[in-house]
Amino acid sequence: MIIIVDFGSQYNQLIARRVRECRVYCQIVPPTLTLDEIKALRPAGIILSGGPSSIYAENSPKTDPGILALGIPVLGICYGMQFMIDALGGTVRGAGKREYGLAEFTVREPAGLFKGLADRSIACWMSHGDSAELLPPGFTIIGSTKNTEIAAIARPAKKLYGLQFHPEVEHTPMGRQILENFLFDICACKPDWTMTSFAEEAIETIRLHVNGKKVILGLSGGVDSSVTGLLIHKAIGPNLTCIFVDNGLLRKNEAEKLKVSFGRHLHMNIRFVDAADLFLNALAGVIDPEKKRKIIGKIFMDVFEAEALKIEDAQFLAQGTLYPDIIESVSAFGGPTAVIKSHHNVGGLPEKMKLKLVEPLKYLFKDEVRQLGEALGLDEELVWRQPFPGPGLAIRILGEVTRERLEILREADAVLLEEVRKNGYYRKLWQSFAVLLPLKSVGVMGDRRTYENILAVRAVTSRDAMTADWAKLPHDLLGSISNRIINEVKGVNRVVYDISSKPPSTIEWE
Ligand code: XMP
Repeated sequence: MIIIVDFGSQYNQLIARRVRECRVYCQIVPPTLTLDEIKALRPAGIILSGGPSSIYAENSPKTDPGILALGIPVLGICYGMQFMIDALGGTVRGAGKREYGLAEFTVREPAGLFKGLADRSIACWMSHGDSAELLPPGFTIIGSTKNTEIAAIARPAKKLYGLQFHPEVEHTPMGRQILENFLFDICACKPDWTMTSFAEEAIETIRLHVNGKKVILGLSGGVDSSVTGLLIHKAIGPNLTCIFVDNGLLRKNEAEKLKVSFGRHLHMNIRFVDAADLFLNALAGVIDPEKKRKIIGKIFMDVFEAEALKIEDAQFLAQGTLYPDIIESVSAFGGPTAVIKSHHNVGGLPEKMKLKLVEPLKYLFKDEVRQLGEALGLDEELVWRQPFPGPGLAIRILGEVTRERLEILREADAVLLEEVRKNGYYRKLWQSFAVLLPLKSVGVMGDRRTYENILAVRAVTSRDAMTADWAKLPHDLLGSISNRIINEVKGVNRVVYDISSKPPSTIEWE
């Protein structure tokens, strides 16, 4: 394993990604970890991350300098390199010439960290104010840029290396080679971290951690809770009880499909709670989207809790928390802050029932969760499911949520998804769904005048839902979606396509 000491750089998650892309497992750790804690992790190598501080600034993050004398290879990046220089007796000077953006880096010798760099001159991404001034004893300069003479340093006998530039970003095209040299040649790691090996280890860890006790999991049908469930099921079988709350706001056949996938096919122990009436009765007459969300959240919590309380001597609550949830991506000094996301509003339950948390996905990124799902044999449809909001179709019906409107939306959404899938767009889109507007317009069907609902189609591309663009779907596809919905779904006589991006719009209409 490689550990990445988090000095607060915005690129930390990217470093972790790059290391994992080399199939080496890594974890981001706070600089406050003690030397003994670090040794206990038995890392094959240590990466000291960049960070926004100046090394001499008050409260700049520091880690135990003993880390540099463990005999474990260390690669300092940007601030990490400056920390190394300072800790070992060199000096760093404040911003003389700031260097930000692309720079041309000259490699002194294509060996060691730079092995295999055919070109002596490579593009690299710089982002620093301070620069190294005086090298610590035993170090040599292994590369420079025009503005920064000490842009890369090494003391190979002690396996210590530093880079002023960022090898993890795309703008440093040879960064991957440099990281591979560090991981495979200097740290002697093997590229053997696969999802199958992760799954085996995770299953064993869960078994030991849970130690024969019972675990509760809220299953939503999304990929995170599904993979969490399957992993824990493989570890402890019937000691896991999943609770699936049908709130009456799900898509067509969703609960049934889940029953087949998890119950019959994967033999998981699931309690399906049909609470549709509770939710729909409480939503009657409610128009304000925030009120809808509050009502749904509160009822979910009550139903889930009542069901969980029926499970005797449960001691653990499992959650599908992911890595990005627990790292503050732009963490300030002091490293990552663990934020426990209240997945699907299970909120105060752990305290109330004195449950401890199990979060087996907390070191994985979303796409890794999908890979893990595939490795565990989860249905393809679940593995690649587009995100679906907790409040479900209630926020895709503008205005009041009624059973009749839900029925129309469900049918239209099913047709839309069928067309999107059939044409090979499902995985390419972040989300694609239908929205029912509380408006009617005039149409003509046969020789009859109609006065029916308007339905909006929303399809977006996105990396992380923070920003999104409307998908440039082919006109033929939009045409067949519209034709089929109008022909097949009673109650809709007009389909429109949403061409707004986020921001300023949002993905959901609410
Ligand atoms: P917006 O509409 O804010 O949505 O652009 C961003 C992403 O979040 C999803 N979303 C939710 N997911 N519970 C969820 O689990 C919610 O209450 C919720 N509201 C929005 C939305 O589908 C999109 O992917």
